[in-house]
Amino acid sequence: MASSSLIITSSAVLFLLTLAVLFAAVPADHHTPRYCAVRGCCNVTGAITISEAVARTGIARNDKCHAPYPTSNPTTLCYCDGFCQRNDPDCCPDFYEVCLGQIPPPEVILDASKTETILLCCHEGNDYQVGEVLRINCNTCTCKPVLYEFATFVCEQRDCAINPEAFGEINDGNFGWSAGNQTEFWGASKDDAMHYRLGTMKPTAAVLTMHQIQNDMPPEAIPEEFDARAQWPGLVEGVQNQGNCASSWAMSTAATASDRLAIQSNGTFKYMHLSPQHLLSCNVKRQQGCAGGHLDRAWWYMRKRGIVTEDCYPYLSGTTSDMQMRKGNCYIKGRDRVPPFCPNPTIRSQRFMSTPPYRIAQDEQQIQAEIFTNGPVQAVFNVKSDFFMYNGGVYRHVPMKTTSPASNVVFTGDQTNVQADGPLEDELGGWHSVRILGWGVDSSYPNRPLKYWLCANSWGTAWGEQGLFRVIRGENECDIEKFVVGVWANIDTDMMNPIKTNNVI
Ligand SMILES: *[C@@H]1O[C@H](CO)[C@@H](O)[C@H](O)[C@H]1NC(C)=O
Ligand SMILES: *[C@@H]1O[C@H](CO)[C@@H](O)[C@H](O)[C@H]1NC(C)=O
Ligand SMILES: *[C@@H]1O[C@H](CO)[C@@H](O)[C@H](O)[C@H]1NC(C)=O
Repeated sequence: MASSSLIITSSAVLFLLTLAVLFAAVPADHHTPRYCAVRGCCNVTGAITISEAVARTGIARNDKCHAPYPTSNPTTLCYCDGFCQRNDPDCCPDFYEVCLGQIPPPEVILDASKTETILLCCHEGNDYQVGEVLRINCNTCTCKPVLYEFATFVCEQRDCAINPEAFGEINDGNFGWSAGNQTEFWGASKDDAMHYRLGTMKPTAAVLTMHQIQNDMPPEAIPEEFDARAQWPGLVEGVQNQGNCASSWAMSTAATASDRLAIQSNGTFKYMHLSPQHLLSCNVKRQQGCAGGHLDRAWWYMRKRGIVTEDCYPYLSGTTSDMQMRKGNCYIKGRDRVPPFCPNPTIRSQRFMSTPPYRIAQDEQQIQAEIFTNGPVQAVFNVKSDFFMYNGGVYRHVPMKTTSPASNVVFTGDQTNVQADGPLEDELGGWHSVRILGWGVDSSYPNRPLKYWLCANSWGTAWGEQGLFRVIRGENECDIEKFVVGVWANIDTDMMNPIKTNNVI
């Protein structure tokens, strides 16, 4: 009996020993990559249970608790905070052993017969099966099992240009403007909006020293409100739409040139709508087309070459998938004053030129005097991401605390731009150019009149105030008063002859 029991005990010990070796082998394995072991583990902030953690997406997560994954690629991340504990694919491989002292749980293996009946993801009242893919604003989400009995949408984690969670933060703050869903930007990530909807290179130091003019208009002659469209009816360009092309440099240059041409020719050249596509496609030297351009080079082209009308050379870059157009195939080369044909063959147009542009001093009254005397001006502007959501009012930048792209879904993936702790000013913004058409004072807030500039953007008429926006005046908000440009049309007497300027064959 005694020996037999000894044998049993020995085999039990042996068996335990084997287990111990197996368990010990995991952390000892020198092939296990070290992530959390190097970076350290972080406590999960708040959430205890899995469902609580899921419900509190973005709160429980500690976004700073990450390591590059794999180590050779620093653009993707894995996590060492407790939030990754939900069998999400974003825990670092050594999270379980280093942070929890466990060997990793097995991968979720689905019992196909149970999956269809039990595991469903719910989004906005609709059920989705595991594996279904859904686009939620700017992120692609896949319905995935999180635990054996639980499924949820796992989404890319890009910051979206329209972030409904920030509406309240802005609208309750009484900043003078309201935020809303701008169809033009719904579904676009912040990064894409910055990349494809702006398009003016920051003026270089050399450009900033450009010749400035001084307007001697006495300050008392400057009216309280002014709108170039009322002052010169029919002579000011409407709102353009650059589409998905970073061409604001060409848009604002062509529109400012059109305005000045119409006003300075006393209406002889009204409705010319000078062609941004001509600039975009033909002003290519050290310009980037749909990836942005320099205003000084655009004006150089206006001065030396001139551009035709929109009818002649229609804008296609923002809407077409025709790569030739997007890249900017130039159809009107050289410097012929009267080109033999337009890309639109039923139209004939001359090239319209300008004199060298001039810079207006960074001074509220100087900018007012220039617009009052000569018409709309071009202004460079630093766009912060809250501006995409502008729905009306007098804009000033609001640094946002809310960065979580959406609620009620689990996000994974690259979070390099996201900082969860405290208020953030993570945005450098992007450079854009617009036209300033006038100014005024908004008295909708008692005891707090808001002085504004009235500006025309190039994001279509569905955005903002029918495509226009108002921005705080006199404070160089987002640098809008820093680089303001005016120009003279180059109108010679020949061009004033209406027979020669008839642009229809
Ligand atoms: C994590 O939380 C536990 C219990 O709340 C605490 O004892 C521990 O010190 C915390 N660790 C860190 C690194 O903050
Ligand atoms: C925003 O507008 C788009 C398109 O008009 C719509 O599909 C989307 O559901 C809207 N989003 C919100 C949060 O209202
Ligand atoms: C436009 O009208 C103004 C004032 O009547 C005049 O001084 C100017 O010469 C005119 N310009 C052209 C191009 O005709």
